[in-house]
Amino acid sequence: AEDGYDLWLRYRPLPAQARANRPVAIVARGTSSMMQAAADELSRGLGGLFATTVARADHAGDGAVVLARIGHDEAASLRALGPRLGDEGYVVRRITVAGRALIVVAANDDRGILYGSFALLRWLQTGHTLGAVALMSRPKVKLRVLDHWDNLNGSVERGYAGQSLWDWWMLPDVREPRYVDYARANASIGINGAVLNNVNASASSLTQRYIRKAAALADIFRPYGIKVYLSARFSAPIEIGHLSTADPNDPQVAAWWRAKADEIYAAIPDFGGFLVKASSEGQPGPQDYGRSHADGANMLAAALAPHGGVVMWRAFVYAHDNPEDRAKQAYDDFHPLDGRFADNVLVQVKNGPIDFQPREPFHPLFGAMPHTPLMIEFQITKEYLGFASHLVYLGPLFEETLRADTMAKGAGSTVAGMISGMAGVANVGRDRDWTGSIFNQANWYAFGRYAWDPTSASDAIAREWAAMTFAPDPAVVDRVARMMAGSREAAVDYMTPLGLAHLMGTDHHYGPAPWVSALARPEWNPVYYHRATADGIGFDRTASGSKAIAQYAPPVAQRLRDPATTPERELLWFHHLRWDYRMPSGHSLWEELVVHYDRGVAYVDQMRGDWTALKSNIDSERFEKTAALLGIQSREARWWRDASLAYWMSVNHLPLPPGVRAPA
Ligand code: GCU
Repeated sequence: AEDGYDLWLRYRPLPAQARANRPVAIVARGTSSMMQAAADELSRGLGGLFATTVARADHAGDGAVVLARIGHDEAASLRALGPRLGDEGYVVRRITVAGRALIVVAANDDRGILYGSFALLRWLQTGHTLGAVALMSRPKVKLRVLDHWDNLNGSVERGYAGQSLWDWWMLPDVREPRYVDYARANASIGINGAVLNNVNASASSLTQRYIRKAAALADIFRPYGIKVYLSARFSAPIEIGHLSTADPNDPQVAAWWRAKADEIYAAIPDFGGFLVKASSEGQPGPQDYGRSHADGANMLAAALAPHGGVVMWRAFVYAHDNPEDRAKQAYDDFHPLDGRFADNVLVQVKNGPIDFQPREPFHPLFGAMPHTPLMIEFQITKEYLGFASHLVYLGPLFEETLRADTMAKGAGSTVAGMISGMAGVANVGRDRDWTGSIFNQANWYAFGRYAWDPTSASDAIAREWAAMTFAPDPAVVDRVARMMAGSREAAVDYMTPLGLAHLMGTDHHYGPAPWVSALARPEWNPVYYHRATADGIGFDRTASGSKAIAQYAPPVAQRLRDPATTPERELLWFHHLRWDYRMPSGHSLWEELVVHYDRGVAYVDQMRGDWTALKSNIDSERFEKTAALLGIQSREARWWRDASLAYWMSVNHLPLPPGVRAPA
């Protein structure tokens, strides 16, 4: 069945002419489980693509695919490339060895060979021929991690694709084949870490019982180069250790964490480390004891350091006693701590300063922590972007943030160039298609590709994914890539155009609720973010407002100070402007907003048209489900537009500009 389970690893037969020059055997020069995993994948993939059996062999005859370490065996002549590949990098070449034409997948380590094997398959899946293969790549970012917000009871926080993949009840005994397929999918895009449990963590995940379960998953993931990490609840020493405090400066607390780390490493020798959400949204943390984030992080880091583990300490913090501007707090709390974190601590910063909105400017901590390794955290699951039902390709969102120039050390100080890791809040669950929709698979895929190379182009990734997921047929790829290209901008347009943010219904974050104003904490209310009155709309973050702009490097701040030099897409994020403010287009701000809402709706209709035109190219199961979801999206884009316009009109008392359809 074409239910999407195979993701982008479908390996359906290539067109006949592309199968002419077929591989005859797979030869692995090594016996590690990772080498075996690579060879098995090639056997499966090449067998499927060439509609034949490609067996494993010991002798590398003419036409064989050989996996070997750089400098050894059939990769002897590639020795000079070693230094350019580093850890995890690979080269795939067609070379002649003693008169035999071979395809050689070579690397300095087995991880590289694994990634090179998937790269070879991708090369073929995207319509290239075996004979022309010439690939070389190495990851630009070291930690490429999925964060699962999975609870021990099987629910997934902000998960829209069913229950948790991990069957905690049956683990460690039942090792579902699905865990292997999850690992294959991740390895195919270079993801090398998985945080198994929710950042809003239960202390139970650190008990011996759960450590054994996590160890079973680690065993399954290991051949695919994926390390397991756990979210650690800061107060675990109290809850499961029966201490009276979790104060990071208390020697007993530090000793408890050291013993806990020792216990974990005894079960999982290559355990990655801890992800920590502390002193944020009611979670326990060092601030409960008057200590800083650095005190808390360093205490945990000391427990992990002897084993080579890391702490990924989140900078997502905001408190009720900081009502002035929620967007400022992470910078205010963390910037003064730059240089005070232990070597094995990474500070994990969300892409923007609020919370995974359809559009946010880059987080001001990027560029402001020169002495601290930073990870960027994106949300792959679409909490504020229409859950699993709306088609929103996140490639352009990743690209926009990663390419943003912080100007911290002059022009070219991009976010992409200053990150040591990339974390993505996973969108997978138990749904047959893993992610709740076929197009959400593209966001998992794109995340991995960006983590490997944060300077990637979102369109190229979309085309790759479309070829692998549907067919390497230009008619399909062009149209699917065109649908994807503007889909995120469309969602911004029909939900929160021109820099507006956080107008979704509180708690569920799905539909429009810009009118909500009476919730207990100011920053829970959409009115806090849009600040619309009869006079104007937008959040003043200049010197006359919250002064958040001052958190950016001077050349950036300078540009943002003036609405005329602020990027239009972020206008109302930084400025409160009159409804009749003149936009560069000649429209008033009000007219421009209406144009954007309409444009978003029109784009969804265009995607529906494009999809309909693909009917004969796509299997009926995936076609019909996607068509149904686009139907939902087209209805809900109108809901967003009409509800938003009706609300703005109740505030500004302006008529709809001529030519615009009145809200239903
Ligand atoms: C968002 C999300 C929460 C999550 C939080 C976080 O606010 O709605 O469910 O816990 O982000 O990133 O910690």
